[in-house]
Amino acid sequence: MIVTLCSTNAFSENNMLEIIHEKHSYLVAKVNEEYFVVDNMCSHENSELILGCLKDKTIKCSLHGSYFDLETGKALNEPADEPIKTYPTIIEGNNICIEL
Ligand code: FES
Repeated sequence: MIVTLCSTNAFSENNMLEIIHEKHSYLVAKVNEEYFVVDNMCSHENSELILGCLKDKTIKCSLHGSYFDLETGKALNEPADEPIKTYPTIIEGNNICIEL
């Protein structure tokens, strides 16, 4: 099932948005001209990644500072050692979609 999360028009520059779909919180990030969708919750503790910041194709958790690769979800430094879930992003027209 293809699910539309938001429009590319919501992004004017590198930025991120939290999108709730069926009670699940996704983080949609724009880095240069690429879009990434990952779970919004850090894999370490209960901290929302939307509160962190983007650096290139990584996101930094604001609570303990772990970085995660937006393409693979891999935790790049401690204390997090588990990946976050990533979703292959599908662009349909102006829509940013994922397959569930
Ligand atoms: S809650 Fe994200 S690194 Fe600890």
